[in-house]
Amino acid sequence: MHASSTLRVAHSPEEFRDLTQCAFVPTMGALHEGHAALLRRAKATGLPVCVSIYVNPTQFGPNEDLNRYPRTLDDDLALAAREGVAVAYVPSTDVIYPEGIEAANRLALTLPLPDVATRPGLEDRCRPGHFAGVQLVVARLFDAVRPRVAIFGEKDWQQLKLVQAMVTAAESDRWPGLEILPLATVREPDGLALSSRNRYLRPEDREQARGVPRAIQLAHSAQRPSTAERLMRETLEAHGFEIDYAVVRDAETLLPVDGFERPTRALIAAHLKWDGGSVRLIDNAAMTLWR
Ligand code: PAJ
Repeated sequence: MHASSTLRVAHSPEEFRDLTQCAFVPTMGALHEGHAALLRRAKATGLPVCVSIYVNPTQFGPNEDLNRYPRTLDDDLALAAREGVAVAYVPSTDVIYPEGIEAANRLALTLPLPDVATRPGLEDRCRPGHFAGVQLVVARLFDAVRPRVAIFGEKDWQQLKLVQAMVTAAESDRWPGLEILPLATVREPDGLALSSRNRYLRPEDREQARGVPRAIQLAHSAQRPSTAERLMRETLEAHGFEIDYAVVRDAETLLPVDGFERPTRALIAAHLKWDGGSVRLIDNAAMTLWR
């Protein structure tokens, strides 16, 4: 695959109006093997591939890592070229939010979120406004790119459910025929899910970070969701994590469950903190397949 010469870098939608019926992979850059897997899945559709690279300010809270979020555009474009991407859409904030960030933040909060994105105890309660910002930027990216399919990682299971619900609820003429394809989480050999935020981990944090996949693996041995939740909490605490949530939910509705009859998902968000630093890791996995 030597398609590097065909990668086009676009900063506004007018520059790729000719790209119709594409397979689209939205990202915030700092691309890793997880993103590369999404690009390969996109390529496998046979459609031209568009990747967007945009660190979206409206999905970061005031005390979050917007300013230190890794920005590695040259490497990202090289990876996109290697994967045979046709268009890398790298918009500026003026292009995405011509009304300005403050107005965009206010607008995002007025747009109703699907129920699946606001379940008590999950991401929306820990990061208020996060999904509002995700919903707004993904909608604007879909409006600009008008893809035939868009690929999202299961790594961000709640985000995937939000995007699926948003597309289902949209007016039929907004993104006609758009299909959302999920892709399984890509992991390091030790089980840690690949994430742009793993760059914040110091080498000595890696062993602790493994507590997350270990917690999920242990949860699989439980006969009941409540036992799985206790095992996950104990494992995370033993690895020094501060837990946002470690729960088992219905995989589709994200509501609490008391058995494993329907497809369920273990979902974790937890912080590792050290002197002068911290990282928030999220992960999830299907529970039902294992029993
Ligand atoms: P980002 O974190 O860059 O992720 C872009 C896409 O890559 C998402 O669909 C995410 O689920 C997927 N991804 C990340 N790590 C993965 C892994 N280890 N295995 C498989 N897929 C993985 O998610 C966002 O950006 C933003 O919220 C965005 C949707 C671009 C809106 O700003």
